[in-house]
Amino acid sequence: MNPLGMLAELTHRCPLGCPYCSNPLALEDRAGEMDTATWIGVFQQAADMGVLQVHLSGGEPASRRDLIELTRAASEAGLYTNLITSAIGIDADRLQRLKAAGLDHVQVSIQDTDPAMSDHIADYKGAHARKLALAEAVTGLGMALTVNAVIHRANIANLSGMVALAASLGAGRVEVAHVQYYGWGLRNRDALMPTREQIDQAMQEMDALQARYAGRLVIDSVIPDYYARRPKPCMGGWGQKSLNVTPSGVVLPCHAAATIPGLTFWSVRERSLADIWANSPAFEAFRGTAWMKEPCQSCSFRTADFGGCRCQALAITGDAAAADPSCELSPYHSHMQKLAEQASGGAYAYRGRNPGR
Ligand code: SF4
Ligand code: FES
Repeated sequence: MNPLGMLAELTHRCPLGCPYCSNPLALEDRAGEMDTATWIGVFQQAADMGVLQVHLSGGEPASRRDLIELTRAASEAGLYTNLITSAIGIDADRLQRLKAAGLDHVQVSIQDTDPAMSDHIADYKGAHARKLALAEAVTGLGMALTVNAVIHRANIANLSGMVALAASLGAGRVEVAHVQYYGWGLRNRDALMPTREQIDQAMQEMDALQARYAGRLVIDSVIPDYYARRPKPCMGGWGQKSLNVTPSGVVLPCHAAATIPGLTFWSVRERSLADIWANSPAFEAFRGTAWMKEPCQSCSFRTADFGGCRCQALAITGDAAAADPSCELSPYHSHMQKLAEQASGGAYAYRGRNPGR
């Protein structure tokens, strides 16, 4: 079993200050980032292991001056390259050079349809206009575009508008991504959590949207965890399909794995990617089903959802080996629902990611 996808977190640097940032609370600084040659070696190793797709991400990957060189190396290694960007730092000229370097796909996040509200959420004046300009440039070059619409209490009522915006930009896919409550998102949970009524309304709207855009736009959407009855197989199962490489070269089974105490993470600076994937204690910790406790251990869904998300289990129950509390069989399920109810009545006041900027 080899990984199929790799998230390459090229940097934690980012000009935006989104209140739901999923990067760790303690960010890597520029001095700790891997250099160009080391990243190129990682891409080659990944391709040799059978990885098909690399997501060039961050932070904001455009903050790396060597982004074009890295993209070329990933492409030449045979990887399908997807750039996940806020659009800040990628103008039409740089995009053209990225395309020439082999970039296959661009994923742009949008915060809302209203420019002022979008810029407020992203904590960056003019961000919305630059996102629209990049999206248009991507489709103008005939490249594949996905729009990532991050949904929370302040913009969920505008779900249809965000999907319509993605369609008007020529996206082939829109990911309706409900905020996940790790890292900064957990800190801002009271400001971000939608109400039950908002979620019910959004799910109804989603059915209508799927029908309206069938054949024109793929809309990916799932019920958010705090309001779900069953968990999702986070990462397609821990250590089964994908891996994350942090800016400094630490290899993680998922982006929030470092929140789990007691795990030892290995680095590509010291070991090969294949060795880490096969032998790292952190990847072994929750691989397969042997680590599970009840109710997962005897549940027929255990090889379908792998007990859900380890990081969410930790955040809510204090035990990373517990069933994800979004599962209605978890003894913490009603506790999680109460947390959602309490948070959704919280105050609207974001703690920005870059309060000092
Ligand atoms: Fe999934 Fe565990 Fe719930 Fe079964 S009990 S559905 S394996 S989380
Ligand atoms: Fe870590 Fe889900 S985010 S397992």
